Amino acid sequence: MMRILAILNQKGGVGKTTTTANLAHALVLAGKRVTTIDLDPQGHLSATFGIFDERGLGIDEVLLGDVCIADVVQQVREGLYLIPAGHRLGKMEMLTQGGASRGTRLRTALTGQFEDQDFILMDCPPASGILVMNALAVADEVIVPVAGDYLGLRGLGYLMKTLKSIEQGLQKKLEKWIVVTRFHARRRLPREVVGKLLDYFPGQVLSTPIRETTALAESPGFGMTIFEYNDGSNGALDYRSLAMDYLNGRTM
Ligand SMILES: Nc1ncnc2c1ncn2[C@@H]1O[C@H](COP(=O)(O)OP(=O)(O)OP(=O)(O)O)[C@@H](O)[C@H]1O
Ligand SMILES: [Mg+2]
Repeated sequence: MMRILAILNQKGGVGKTTTTANLAHALVLAGKRVTTIDLDPQGHLSATFGIFDERGLGIDEVLLGDVCIADVVQQVREGLYLIPAGHRLGKMEMLTQGGASRGTRLRTALTGQFEDQDFILMDCPPASGILVMNALAVADEVIVPVAGDYLGLRGLGYLMKTLKSIEQGLQKKLEKWIVVTRFHARRRLPREVVGKLLDYFPGQVLSTPIRETTALAESPGFGMTIFEYNDGSNGALDYRSLAMDYLNGRTM
């Protein structure tokens, strides 16, 4: 059965795109079929896979126009697919017509599509507007990357409250996972952050913290995932382990 995941946190720079790209590739390397969707007008997910085609069609034309989602999907690796953002995606947030259906366009577009896939991973923008609404309307699960720094926990309560009200509005339950990112094992503060996360979200924090790794910061600049850029790095080790956590429901 296909699982649809939104990788989301309204806070910027916490590792949403890094997690989407590398978790997706790790799942593919574990034999799963994965399609990713770049829901961020910045287009960073596409860039991470080495796709810089600015004028190509993307999810923008699906959400704003009448292009079929199956016509904008590209194969980026063996077994790994990408639906790019497209250069018009930012216009989605300015959409004033369409009422409530603006929030369910992605769900409508995905209905009956990609049923041979195991996972669809959606990289969300650092916001809480209409694009995130579209992601949550279609998602079965949410992965929230939380940076292990002193600001990491800020806004998390608000995010969880928002998710709860969306669940009520949509009358469905979202499975929620937390991923600790940008982790410095030798510092005290990140360990405190993890301790607090475990208090607030017992059974939901995936076991492997993603360590702060230079290779993870460098790889997108080369259009590579961590497994292509430096397969022996801590980043590759951590994301492989995270994929296994996720597949086996292994939490701290
Ligand atoms: N574990 C890590 N180690 C080192 N660098 C990291 C790590 N995770 C992310 N980065 C770097 O931090 C920056 C922000 O990461 P990323 O783009 O994944 O965050 P984001 O949440 O998607 O940001 P945005 O909110 O802008 O979409 C990037 O330059 C990325 O390469
Ligand atoms: Mg991002």
